Amino acid sequence: MINQIPILTIDGPSGVGKGTVSKYIATKHNWNLLDSGAIYRAFAYEINQKRIDFNDEQKLRAFAKDFQIEFIASPNEELVQVISNDVDISQLIRNEEAGKTASVIAAIGYVRDVLMEIQMSFAKEPGLVADGRDMGTVVFPNAKFKVFLDASAEERANRRVKQLQSKGEDAIISRILADIEERDHRDRSRKVSPLRPAEDAVVIDTSFMSIEEVLLQVSKIVEN
Ligand code: DC
Repeated sequence: MINQIPILTIDGPSGVGKGTVSKYIATKHNWNLLDSGAIYRAFAYEINQKRIDFNDEQKLRAFAKDFQIEFIASPNEELVQVISNDVDISQLIRNEEAGKTASVIAAIGYVRDVLMEIQMSFAKEPGLVADGRDMGTVVFPNAKFKVFLDASAEERANRRVKQLQSKGEDAIISRILADIEERDHRDRSRKVSPLRPAEDAVVIDTSFMSIEEVLLQVSKIVEN
């Protein structure tokens, strides 16, 4: 029964560190990990590749029936490896463009419907950490532990710049900030499952916290 499996939902805007916190808790407790953003990214990537018009509900629903996704967590990698229909698409879906396309298709109600079942199938023993925008509000409303991570858009843009620079990539802060603000606006203002904290979620503003402090606080929520 899904209600008996311990589930931690971690929701919040893009670039807030949900991925790092989710992976840490999942590894610590040996729980399953659901990166729901990767599902939206992979789905958007596949329908683009197949040139399916995402306004064509019938075609999209038919495609969704065959859509398969698998995550492989590696202790050395920060993010999970994403295998869609047997192809490793991890690198292809992690850029800003893929995030933006995912955010656009995620605003369509029937896209969210068809991806619901896949997300729920991750709730397995011994537990689950579910990372996304509507994990605590819509997908796992009965989760035992709920966290909403937040941080100012400026702080998230700064962190993203540092992350890109550490990989030797170019980063223009004004563009990154504009992208973050645009995505925030779309994710928060959409009619279906908008980004917002569940009423029973613990909201943590990480703007002035180190990652270690965030990990400690979330660990305490799960271990208490
Ligand atoms: O977490 P992410 O950046 O990988 O997510 C990409 C987009 O997918 C995000 O901007 C909105 C959408 N998304 C969503 O609508 N609901 C989720 N549970 C996860 C992601």
